Amino acid sequence: MGKARDTASGPVNGNPPLRATPGPCLSALTPITPIRQSPSAVEGDVFVPPLRKLGEICDGRRQGQQRAPGLGHGTRLERQRRLTPDTNGDMFITMLFRTMKRLIGSTPVIRRAVTRLSYEALSRAFDDPRLVVMNYGYAALDGDGHTIALAQRDEWSRFSLQLYHRVAGAIDLAGKELLEIGGGRGGGADFVARTLDPKQVVCTDISAAAMAFASRTHATTPNLSFQQADAEHLPFADATFDIVLNVESSHCYGTMERFLGEASRVLRPGGHLLFADIRDTPQAPALEESLRHNHAGLNLLRLEDITAHVRTALDFTTNQKETLVATMVAPLRQMFRDQSGLPGGVVYRAFAAGERTYVCATLVKEG
Ligand SMILES: C[S@@+](CC[C@H](N)C(=O)[O-])C[C@H]1O[C@@H](n2cnc3c(N)ncnc32)[C@H](O)[C@@H]1O
Repeated sequence: MGKARDTASGPVNGNPPLRATPGPCLSALTPITPIRQSPSAVEGDVFVPPLRKLGEICDGRRQGQQRAPGLGHGTRLERQRRLTPDTNGDMFITMLFRTMKRLIGSTPVIRRAVTRLSYEALSRAFDDPRLVVMNYGYAALDGDGHTIALAQRDEWSRFSLQLYHRVAGAIDLAGKELLEIGGGRGGGADFVARTLDPKQVVCTDISAAAMAFASRTHATTPNLSFQQADAEHLPFADATFDIVLNVESSHCYGTMERFLGEASRVLRPGGHLLFADIRDTPQAPALEESLRHNHAGLNLLRLEDITAHVRTALDFTTNQKETLVATMVAPLRQMFRDQSGLPGGVVYRAFAAGERTYVCATLVKEG
């Protein structure tokens, strides 16, 4: 099966706009409606890929989650999971993490440098070919969490690819030239290139090591290429692409303004920016503001709070992440455990406490 096949009842064009309904631990974002209708958008609203259940979006439910089965009480992995901040190792990692967070939050230059080094180090130190996507994923809020049917080769990365489908499927990509910014290890771009019929996909990332991994790993997809590039200084001429795709990467950038300016510059008039990312919940309104009132000539068509879906995906991806952790060198393990959203880790606990907000947006460049 080459195509991502939707299991839902059909496109949702013409349905009422989706709204964020903040649940008890959800976003500080205001309820959202499309701001402005682009003449180039599909009639009635932007095209949204058919999902299993339209009503499930942002309704704050959290059902049907799976816990990692099969991990015995006495295994090394299980003991690691039970580490508390009282143990020295975990304390050290927690302090390191806090220091990195402080550095990342300090100035744009330091944020860029620290995140660039972190991802460069991860790609150099960890070459497992199964890790082709690095986002927190997207799950339906009930049942098995599936939103689309996938080819067997994509099952391992199901929930991260479902996030790609959720974001990139906002527009019909057939025949379009697409640039991905912050594409990481290339699995998302490869999936989009194979399943959503774009003419060409150029996947970029600031990490040279990630781009080298991606070129090796996805070499057989004909309409896909990779290039190292900084989101804030793109090496492409004005008006080169129909679509810019950006998934869970902008939190690393020096400034959103500079990134949006670059995304807009390389888009053709009427082209779309398809965006998703995470923020600490108190920073979510600032993200909304930068998407809604940017100076880059990008008009916000749609903004949705998908935190509940991302949080749910964390529970479906525990087994895969545990498998990867087990193959890692020791210094990477706790860092990965914390950052990848494994239960008990920093990110997982923050999601559970409502301290992370995840949004998905579609913007159009003024024509
Ligand atoms: C969480 S990963 C997500 C990767 C990919 N989108 C995915 O979902 O698998 C964030 C990516 O953003 C990249 N990144 C960070 N700063 C960047 C910048 N200034 N320009 C381009 N990419 C950047 C990192 O190297 C990393 O690969």
